[in-house]
Amino acid sequence: MTEPTFDFDRYDRIRPIRWTGDALELLDQRKLPFVVEYVRCDDADAVAAAIHALTVRGAPAIGIAAAWGVVLAARDIDAADGNAAAPQLEPALQRLNAARPTAVNLAWALARMRRVLVAAGADWRDVLAREAQAIADEDLAANRRMGALGAALIEPESGVLTHCNTGSLATAGFGTALGVIRAGVAQGRIGKVYAGETRPWLQGARLTVWELQQDGISPTLIADSAAAHLMKTGAVHWVVVGADRICANGDVANKIGTYQLAIAARHHGVRFMVAAPSSTVDMATPSGDQIHIEERDPGELFGVGGVRTAAEEVGAWNPVFDVTPHELIDAIVTERGVIERPDEAAMRTAFGA
Ligand code: MRU
Repeated sequence: MTEPTFDFDRYDRIRPIRWTGDALELLDQRKLPFVVEYVRCDDADAVAAAIHALTVRGAPAIGIAAAWGVVLAARDIDAADGNAAAPQLEPALQRLNAARPTAVNLAWALARMRRVLVAAGADWRDVLAREAQAIADEDLAANRRMGALGAALIEPESGVLTHCNTGSLATAGFGTALGVIRAGVAQGRIGKVYAGETRPWLQGARLTVWELQQDGISPTLIADSAAAHLMKTGAVHWVVVGADRICANGDVANKIGTYQLAIAARHHGVRFMVAAPSSTVDMATPSGDQIHIEERDPGELFGVGGVRTAAEEVGAWNPVFDVTPHELIDAIVTERGVIERPDEAAMRTAFGA
Protein backbone atom coordinates (compact mmCIF):
# COMPACT_ATOMS: atom_id res chain seq x y z
CA MET A 1 0.00 0.00 0.00
CA THR A 2 1.33 3.47 -0.87
CA GLU A 3 1.55 5.66 2.22
CA PRO A 4 -0.17 9.01 1.73
CA THR A 5 2.02 11.96 2.66
CA PHE A 6 0.84 14.18 5.49
CA ASP A 7 2.08 17.46 6.76
CA PHE A 8 2.29 16.06 10.28
CA ASP A 9 3.36 19.38 11.75
CA ARG A 10 0.21 21.02 10.43
CA TYR A 11 -2.03 18.27 11.76
CA ASP A 12 -0.35 17.44 15.03
CA ARG A 13 1.04 20.21 17.20
CA ILE A 14 0.11 19.27 20.75
CA ARG A 15 2.35 17.29 23.09
CA PRO A 16 0.77 16.33 26.44
CA ILE A 17 3.96 14.81 27.91
CA ARG A 18 7.37 16.49 28.00
CA TRP A 19 10.52 14.97 29.48
CA THR A 20 12.95 17.74 30.46
CA GLY A 21 15.86 15.48 31.34
CA ASP A 22 15.19 15.71 35.07
CA ALA A 23 11.42 16.04 35.42
CA LEU A 24 8.18 15.12 33.67
CA GLU A 25 5.88 17.92 32.50
CA LEU A 26 2.24 17.07 31.88
CA LEU A 27 -0.22 19.31 30.07
CA ASP A 28 -2.99 19.67 32.67
CA GLN A 29 -6.01 18.20 30.89
CA ARG A 30 -8.34 19.10 33.75
CA LYS A 31 -7.91 22.77 32.89
CA LEU A 32 -8.13 22.70 29.10
CA PRO A 33 -9.32 24.39 26.94
CA PHE A 34 -9.21 27.67 28.85
CA VAL A 35 -5.91 27.25 30.67
CA VAL A 36 -2.93 25.74 28.85
CA GLU A 37 -0.54 24.84 31.64
CA TYR A 38 2.02 22.10 32.24
CA VAL A 39 2.44 20.64 35.73
CA ARG A 40 5.83 19.35 36.81
CA CYS A 41 6.29 15.89 38.34
CA ASP A 42 9.55 15.26 40.18
CA ASP A 43 8.86 11.74 41.43
CA ALA A 44 6.90 8.61 40.62
CA ASP A 45 4.19 9.31 43.17
CA ALA A 46 3.48 12.68 41.58
CA VAL A 47 3.11 10.89 38.24
CA ALA A 48 0.77 8.26 39.77
CA ALA A 49 -1.33 11.02 41.34
CA ALA A 50 -1.49 12.89 38.01
CA ILE A 51 -2.67 9.74 36.23
CA HIS A 52 -5.33 9.11 38.85
CA ALA A 53 -6.52 12.74 38.78
CA LEU A 54 -6.76 12.79 34.93
CA THR A 55 -4.12 15.50 34.65
CA VAL A 56 -2.78 13.11 32.01
CA ARG A 57 -5.32 10.72 30.50
CA GLY A 58 -5.94 8.49 27.50
CA ALA A 59 -4.67 4.92 27.38
CA PRO A 60 -1.35 5.38 25.53
CA ALA A 61 -0.54 8.63 27.34
CA ILE A 62 -0.88 7.13 30.81
CA GLY A 63 1.44 4.27 29.77
CA ILE A 64 4.06 6.74 28.54
CA ALA A 65 3.73 8.92 31.66
CA ALA A 66 4.10 5.85 33.90
CA ALA A 67 7.26 4.79 32.04
CA TRP A 68 8.78 8.20 32.79
CA GLY A 69 7.57 7.77 36.37
CA VAL A 70 9.81 4.70 36.61
CA VAL A 71 12.73 6.78 35.34
CA LEU A 72 12.03 9.29 38.12
CA ALA A 73 11.76 6.54 40.75
CA ALA A 74 15.16 5.19 39.66
CA ARG A 75 16.84 8.34 40.98
CA ASP A 76 16.13 7.27 44.56
CA ILE A 77 17.65 3.80 44.19
CA ASP A 78 21.24 2.82 44.75
CA ALA A 79 22.03 -0.39 42.84
CA ALA A 80 24.96 -1.76 40.85
CA ASP A 81 22.85 -3.15 38.03
CA GLY A 82 19.26 -3.53 36.84
CA ASN A 83 18.70 -6.86 38.51
CA ALA A 84 19.64 -5.38 41.90
CA ALA A 85 17.51 -2.29 41.25
CA ALA A 86 14.39 -4.24 40.22
CA PRO A 87 13.09 -5.28 43.67
CA GLN A 88 13.77 -1.81 45.06
CA LEU A 89 11.86 -0.18 42.20
CA GLU A 90 8.93 -2.59 42.38
CA PRO A 91 6.87 -0.66 44.99
CA ALA A 92 6.94 2.45 42.76
CA LEU A 93 5.93 0.35 39.76
CA GLN A 94 3.02 -1.09 41.76
CA ARG A 95 1.85 2.38 42.80
CA LEU A 96 1.98 3.59 39.20
CA ASN A 97 0.10 0.51 38.03
CA ALA A 98 -2.65 1.07 40.60
CA ALA A 99 -3.33 4.63 39.43
CA ARG A 100 -6.03 3.51 36.95
CA PRO A 101 -7.28 -0.04 36.30
CA THR A 102 -8.91 -0.26 32.87
CA ALA A 103 -6.42 0.82 30.20
CA VAL A 104 -3.97 -2.02 29.64
CA ASN A 105 -1.36 0.35 28.20
CA LEU A 106 -0.40 1.28 31.75
CA ALA A 107 0.49 -2.30 32.78
CA TRP A 108 1.97 -2.93 29.32
CA ALA A 109 4.39 0.01 29.57
CA LEU A 110 5.43 -0.96 33.11
CA ALA A 111 6.02 -4.57 32.00
CA ARG A 112 8.31 -3.25 29.26
CA MET A 113 10.24 -1.19 31.80
CA ARG A 114 10.61 -4.22 34.10
CA ARG A 115 11.83 -6.39 31.22
CA VAL A 116 14.65 -4.06 30.17
CA LEU A 117 15.56 -3.30 33.78
CA VAL A 118 16.36 -6.87 34.85
CA ALA A 119 18.61 -7.34 31.82
CA ALA A 120 20.47 -4.03 32.26
CA GLY A 121 23.99 -3.59 33.58
CA ALA A 122 25.59 -0.66 35.37
CA ASP A 123 23.92 1.80 32.98
CA TRP A 124 20.43 0.65 34.06
CA ARG A 125 19.16 4.21 34.62
CA ASP A 126 20.04 5.17 31.03
CA VAL A 127 18.44 1.93 29.80
CA LEU A 128 15.18 2.89 31.55
CA ALA A 129 15.25 6.40 30.08
CA ARG A 130 15.89 5.05 26.58
CA GLU A 131 12.99 2.59 26.97
CA ALA A 132 10.56 5.31 28.10
CA GLN A 133 11.55 7.39 25.08
CA ALA A 134 11.16 4.35 22.81
CA ILE A 135 7.64 3.71 24.14
CA ALA A 136 6.71 7.29 23.28
CA ASP A 137 8.39 7.25 19.85
CA GLU A 138 6.80 3.92 18.89
CA ASP A 139 3.38 5.21 19.93
CA LEU A 140 3.68 8.23 17.66
CA ALA A 141 4.80 6.06 14.75
CA ALA A 142 1.95 3.58 15.37
CA ASN A 143 -0.60 6.38 15.39
CA ARG A 144 0.60 7.77 12.08
CA ARG A 145 0.42 4.31 10.51
CA MET A 146 -3.07 3.71 11.95
CA GLY A 147 -4.22 7.05 10.63
CA ALA A 148 -3.40 5.97 7.09
CA LEU A 149 -4.90 2.49 7.51
CA GLY A 150 -8.10 3.68 9.13
CA ALA A 151 -8.69 6.58 6.75
CA ALA A 152 -8.38 4.22 3.79
CA LEU A 153 -11.58 2.46 4.96
CA ILE A 154 -13.64 5.66 4.74
CA GLU A 155 -15.36 6.74 1.53
CA PRO A 156 -14.84 10.35 0.29
CA GLU A 157 -16.85 13.11 1.98
CA SER A 158 -18.12 10.86 4.78
CA GLY A 159 -19.48 12.09 8.08
CA VAL A 160 -17.87 10.64 11.21
CA LEU A 161 -18.76 10.71 14.89
CA THR A 162 -16.14 10.29 17.57
CA HIS A 163 -16.31 9.97 21.35
CA CYS A 164 -14.06 11.07 24.20
CA ASN A 165 -10.59 12.34 23.26
CA THR A 166 -8.27 10.03 21.37
CA GLY A 167 -5.93 12.61 19.89
CA SER A 168 -2.47 13.95 20.55
CA LEU A 169 -3.62 14.70 24.08
CA ALA A 170 -4.31 11.01 24.73
CA THR A 171 -1.12 9.66 23.12
CA ALA A 172 2.46 10.58 22.25
CA GLY A 173 0.99 12.54 19.33
CA PHE A 174 -1.36 12.41 16.31
CA GLY A 175 -3.87 10.19 18.11
CA THR A 176 -5.63 6.92 17.48
CA ALA A 177 -9.24 7.50 16.36
CA LEU A 178 -8.47 11.20 16.06
CA GLY A 179 -5.41 10.28 13.97
CA VAL A 180 -7.73 8.41 11.59
CA ILE A 181 -9.92 11.51 11.51
CA ARG A 182 -6.93 13.84 10.92
CA ALA A 183 -5.75 11.63 8.06
CA GLY A 184 -9.29 11.27 6.68
CA VAL A 185 -9.84 15.04 6.65
CA ALA A 186 -6.44 15.60 5.02
CA GLN A 187 -7.35 13.14 2.25
CA GLY A 188 -10.87 14.47 1.67
CA ARG A 189 -12.40 11.24 2.89
CA ILE A 190 -14.05 12.95 5.82
CA GLY A 191 -16.23 15.97 5.11
CA LYS A 192 -17.80 16.40 8.51
CA VAL A 193 -16.68 15.55 12.06
CA TYR A 194 -19.09 15.24 14.98
CA ALA A 195 -17.76 15.05 18.53
CA GLY A 196 -19.82 13.80 21.48
CA GLU A 197 -19.48 15.84 24.67
CA THR A 198 -18.48 12.80 26.77
CA ARG A 199 -20.02 13.40 30.15
CA PRO A 200 -18.98 13.69 32.90
CA TRP A 201 -15.41 14.84 32.19
CA LEU A 202 -16.30 16.37 28.82
CA GLN A 203 -13.22 15.04 27.05
CA GLY A 204 -15.09 15.58 23.76
CA ALA A 205 -16.32 19.11 24.41
CA ARG A 206 -13.19 20.34 26.17
CA LEU A 207 -10.35 18.39 24.57
CA THR A 208 -11.33 16.96 21.17
CA VAL A 209 -12.92 20.19 19.97
CA TRP A 210 -9.94 22.27 21.14
CA GLU A 211 -7.43 19.86 19.67
CA LEU A 212 -9.10 19.74 16.25
CA GLN A 213 -9.40 23.51 16.23
CA GLN A 214 -5.58 23.75 16.57
CA ASP A 215 -5.44 21.89 13.24
CA GLY A 216 -8.00 24.10 11.54
CA ILE A 217 -10.64 21.35 11.65
CA SER A 218 -14.04 22.53 12.91
CA PRO A 219 -15.99 19.70 14.51
CA THR A 220 -19.66 19.90 15.36
CA LEU A 221 -20.33 19.22 19.02
CA ILE A 222 -23.32 17.10 20.03
CA ALA A 223 -24.77 16.11 23.37
CA ASP A 224 -24.03 12.43 24.00
CA SER A 225 -27.77 11.82 23.99
CA ALA A 226 -28.10 13.22 20.43
CA ALA A 227 -26.03 10.46 18.81
CA ALA A 228 -28.80 8.05 17.77
CA HIS A 229 -30.89 10.90 16.41
CA LEU A 230 -27.87 12.17 14.44
CA MET A 231 -27.33 8.72 12.94
CA LYS A 232 -30.98 8.55 11.92
CA THR A 233 -30.51 11.70 9.80
CA GLY A 234 -27.92 9.88 7.65
CA ALA A 235 -25.19 12.45 8.38
CA VAL A 236 -22.80 9.91 9.89
CA HIS A 237 -21.21 7.01 7.99
CA TRP A 238 -18.64 5.87 10.52
CA VAL A 239 -18.28 6.02 14.29
CA VAL A 240 -14.52 6.11 14.98
CA VAL A 241 -13.36 5.56 18.56
CA GLY A 242 -10.25 4.53 20.46
CA ALA A 243 -9.82 1.79 23.05
CA ASP A 244 -8.48 1.24 26.54
CA ARG A 245 -8.28 -2.54 26.25
CA ILE A 246 -8.98 -4.92 23.38
CA CYS A 247 -9.57 -8.50 24.51
CA ALA A 248 -8.64 -11.79 22.88
CA ASN A 249 -12.13 -12.12 21.40
CA GLY A 250 -12.17 -8.55 20.03
CA ASP A 251 -14.36 -7.03 22.77
CA VAL A 252 -13.32 -3.42 23.40
CA ALA A 253 -13.31 -1.37 26.58
CA ASN A 254 -13.50 2.35 25.92
CA LYS A 255 -14.98 5.51 27.41
CA ILE A 256 -18.44 5.13 28.89
CA GLY A 257 -21.01 5.73 26.16
CA THR A 258 -19.08 3.87 23.46
CA TYR A 259 -21.27 0.76 23.80
CA GLN A 260 -24.50 2.66 23.23
CA LEU A 261 -22.94 4.33 20.16
CA ALA A 262 -22.12 0.87 18.76
CA ILE A 263 -25.69 -0.33 19.32
CA ALA A 264 -27.14 2.77 17.68
CA ALA A 265 -24.65 2.51 14.81
CA ARG A 266 -25.63 -1.09 14.04
CA HIS A 267 -29.31 -0.18 14.15
CA HIS A 268 -28.80 2.64 11.64
CA GLY A 269 -26.36 0.90 9.28
CA VAL A 270 -23.49 3.14 10.40
CA ARG A 271 -20.10 1.42 10.50
CA PHE A 272 -18.06 1.23 13.69
CA MET A 273 -14.26 1.48 13.78
CA VAL A 274 -11.91 1.08 16.74
CA ALA A 275 -8.39 2.48 16.27
CA ALA A 276 -5.77 1.56 18.86
CA PRO A 277 -2.09 0.62 18.94
CA SER A 278 -1.12 -3.01 19.57
CA SER A 279 -0.11 -1.90 23.10
CA THR A 280 -3.87 -1.73 23.82
CA VAL A 281 -4.39 -5.37 22.81
CA ASP A 282 -4.59 -7.72 25.80
CA MET A 283 -4.62 -11.30 24.57
CA ALA A 284 -4.45 -12.52 28.19
CA THR A 285 -7.98 -11.28 28.86
CA PRO A 286 -10.41 -13.60 27.05
CA SER A 287 -13.41 -11.26 26.83
CA GLY A 288 -14.84 -8.01 28.05
CA ASP A 289 -16.48 -9.78 30.99
CA GLN A 290 -13.08 -10.00 32.70
CA ILE A 291 -12.19 -6.31 32.38
CA HIS A 292 -12.03 -4.23 35.54
CA ILE A 293 -14.19 -1.21 34.75
CA GLU A 294 -13.04 1.84 36.69
CA GLU A 295 -15.72 3.50 38.81
CA ARG A 296 -14.88 7.03 39.86
CA ASP A 297 -16.19 9.33 42.56
CA PRO A 298 -19.98 9.77 42.13
CA GLY A 299 -19.36 13.45 42.88
CA GLU A 300 -18.08 13.82 39.30
CA LEU A 301 -21.71 13.56 38.20
CA PHE A 302 -23.10 16.22 40.50
CA GLY A 303 -22.08 19.27 38.51
CA VAL A 304 -20.21 20.86 35.63
CA GLY A 305 -17.12 23.05 35.99
CA GLY A 306 -17.46 23.18 39.76
CA VAL A 307 -21.11 24.33 39.63
CA ARG A 308 -23.57 21.89 41.16
CA THR A 309 -26.36 20.85 38.79
CA ALA A 310 -27.77 17.78 40.56
CA ALA A 311 -30.34 18.10 43.32
CA GLU A 312 -28.84 17.72 46.79
CA GLU A 313 -28.62 14.33 48.51
CA VAL A 314 -28.88 12.26 45.34
CA GLY A 315 -26.86 9.05 44.92
CA ALA A 316 -24.96 8.36 41.68
CA TRP A 317 -23.14 5.56 39.86
CA ASN A 318 -20.09 6.58 37.83
CA PRO A 319 -18.51 3.80 35.73
CA VAL A 320 -16.12 5.57 33.33
CA PHE A 321 -15.67 2.82 30.74
CA ASP A 322 -17.90 0.25 29.09
CA VAL A 323 -17.38 -2.80 26.90
CA THR A 324 -18.48 -2.97 23.28
CA PRO A 325 -18.96 -6.59 22.22
CA HIS A 326 -16.94 -7.53 19.15
CA GLU A 327 -20.11 -8.41 17.21
CA LEU A 328 -20.89 -4.69 16.99
CA ILE A 329 -17.45 -3.72 15.63
CA ASP A 330 -16.80 -3.54 11.87
CA ALA A 331 -13.05 -2.92 12.04
CA ILE A 332 -10.24 -2.81 14.58
CA VAL A 333 -7.30 -0.83 13.22
CA THR A 334 -3.85 -1.18 14.78
CA GLU A 335 -0.45 -0.26 13.35
CA ARG A 336 -0.17 -3.92 12.30
CA GLY A 337 -3.19 -3.80 10.02
CA VAL A 338 -6.98 -3.89 9.85
CA ILE A 339 -9.06 -6.65 11.42
CA GLU A 340 -12.50 -6.66 9.85
CA ARG A 341 -15.38 -8.17 11.84
CA PRO A 342 -13.09 -9.04 14.76
CA ASP A 343 -13.57 -12.28 16.68
CA GLU A 344 -11.28 -14.61 18.59
CA ALA A 345 -9.98 -16.37 15.48
CA ALA A 346 -9.17 -13.10 13.71
CA MET A 347 -7.52 -11.69 16.84
CA ARG A 348 -5.37 -14.81 17.30
CA THR A 349 -4.31 -14.70 13.64
CA ALA A 350 -3.24 -11.07 14.07
CA PHE A 351 -1.75 -11.19 17.58
CA GLY A 352 -0.95 -14.84 18.34
CA ALA A 353 -1.57 -16.32 21.77
O1 MRU B 1 -10.84 8.48 31.14
P1 MRU B 1 -9.97 8.78 29.95
O2 MRU B 1 -10.12 10.17 29.45
O3 MRU B 1 -8.53 8.38 30.17
O4 MRU B 1 -10.54 7.82 28.82
C1 MRU B 1 -9.92 7.83 27.55
C2 MRU B 1 -10.60 6.97 26.57
O5 MRU B 1 -11.52 6.25 26.86
C3 MRU B 1 -10.02 6.95 25.18
O6 MRU B 1 -11.03 6.73 24.24
C4 MRU B 1 -9.00 5.81 25.09
O7 MRU B 1 -8.07 5.89 26.13
C5 MRU B 1 -8.29 5.81 23.81
S1 MRU B 1 -7.15 7.17 23.74
C6 MRU B 1 -6.19 7.06 22.41
